[in-house]
Amino acid sequence: MPSHLLAIDQGTTSSRAIVFNDRLEIIASAQQEFSQYFPHSGWVEHDAEEIWDSTLATCRQALERSGLAAADIAAIGITNQRETVVVWDRQTGKAIHKAIVWQDRRTSGLCDELRAAGHDPMITAKTGLLLDSYFSATKIKWLLDQVPGAREEAAAGRLACGTVDSFLLWRLTAGKVHATDATNACRTMLYNIYENHWDEELLALLDIPAALLPEVKNSCDDFGSTEPALFGSSIAVGGIAGDQQAALIGQACFRPGMIKSTYGTGCFIVLNTGERPVVSTNRLLTTIGYRLDGRNTYALEGSIFVAGAAVQWMRDAMGIIESAADTGKLARQADINQDVYLVPAFTGLGAPYWDADARGAIFGITRATGPAELSKAALESVCFQTRDLLEAMRGDWPAMGDTVLRVDGGMVASNYTMQFLADILDAPVDRPAILETTALGAAYLAGLFKGLVPSPERFVDDWKRDKRFTPALDEEIRNRKYAGWQDAVRRTLTTS
Ligand code: G3P
Repeated sequence: MPSHLLAIDQGTTSSRAIVFNDRLEIIASAQQEFSQYFPHSGWVEHDAEEIWDSTLATCRQALERSGLAAADIAAIGITNQRETVVVWDRQTGKAIHKAIVWQDRRTSGLCDELRAAGHDPMITAKTGLLLDSYFSATKIKWLLDQVPGAREEAAAGRLACGTVDSFLLWRLTAGKVHATDATNACRTMLYNIYENHWDEELLALLDIPAALLPEVKNSCDDFGSTEPALFGSSIAVGGIAGDQQAALIGQACFRPGMIKSTYGTGCFIVLNTGERPVVSTNRLLTTIGYRLDGRNTYALEGSIFVAGAAVQWMRDAMGIIESAADTGKLARQADINQDVYLVPAFTGLGAPYWDADARGAIFGITRATGPAELSKAALESVCFQTRDLLEAMRGDWPAMGDTVLRVDGGMVASNYTMQFLADILDAPVDRPAILETTALGAAYLAGLFKGLVPSPERFVDDWKRDKRFTPALDEEIRNRKYAGWQDAVRRTLTTS
């Protein structure tokens, strides 16, 4: 009986594949970066062929490194960068244009027009999202409008469209399955998260034919099997989830009130709110956390655009540090009597401010301020922003209760940063034993499909942490520091 699981983690800058055993331990992995295309200011594209090639290559490599054959893999789970869209030809499987990436702002003008026409309350009421070019819908419209012949081809039923999971599934099954899961569908801004269907009014508003879109399934479901020639024999695909939701699953946040925060380039915080969706009045997103057995578990989500990117900025643009790991060391040497604040609004501010025009600012510099104080300010900015989101979540959902934040992603390796995070949140911060939580979430879904892993309830109990960071900062200092941050943000915003 095959008992291993293969997780595909198709992210924004690299594709990864990880083989897990049925105890959800990592056996082997492979990773490959691919090109980022920036054809105009604010535009970000990926080549769908590079996404596919790197995914296939890493799956094969991981399998080879594990010493296993396809026949030893019980099921594949796919997790992916969300919102990024591909439109492809059903006959050839080739994309008609490069994929438009979630970060791409080319349709912000269209979003402004839709807002001016008063459509945003309706969009939020149906999708739980805020009208923004971040989501897939306006990107799909752009592709249909701008690629010559696309509208005619679409009308003739010759095109298919989907987020990256859907495109990969199409390729893995040699065009036999055109499907996605609810966590990806809900990020398109075309999916009604309350009634669970592609929304006709939204499709009509954006002139997108329904026939273009994939079937929406559970996150753990029968997604078909891979073409035998790809890996030597066919493998079932049993799970799909967008990467932030997969991290929620990998962190075993299966109970209402459980919350995770992933620190990569940016930071995404997702709070499980249970079977009842919570509508945000603080500009957070209401989204589907996962769908199992036809039932949605909803979540509130907040995204910060700059987390690890602040450290990259210190390294690449400022040359203050040589490697990201130096930041914590340097920050420890900072003069604690200096209150320096960095508001890293390099590309605007995300939730809960949503100020696209704000730009980065530094406050409180004196002649004594040096690299150590700047490093400290950069790391602290990530923690302050996390607190902003948690405050917004508490405002939206007072039932949230005491928070224990489960963290993952590259930055959480820094004990210094995690301790400050706990201090500024005044809440415990738990770092898990397995840091590959996104891939773990995908593997878990695939394992659940095959009955190889414990039920969600037991998975919650089995979850293990590496370390808990407990708040230790004096309340008066915490309040003063956070008030200083809020003041710095106020002075940075272009909107009041
Ligand atoms: O919403 C975008 C998010 O899914 C991207 O995640 O980890 O690929 O940058 P990541």
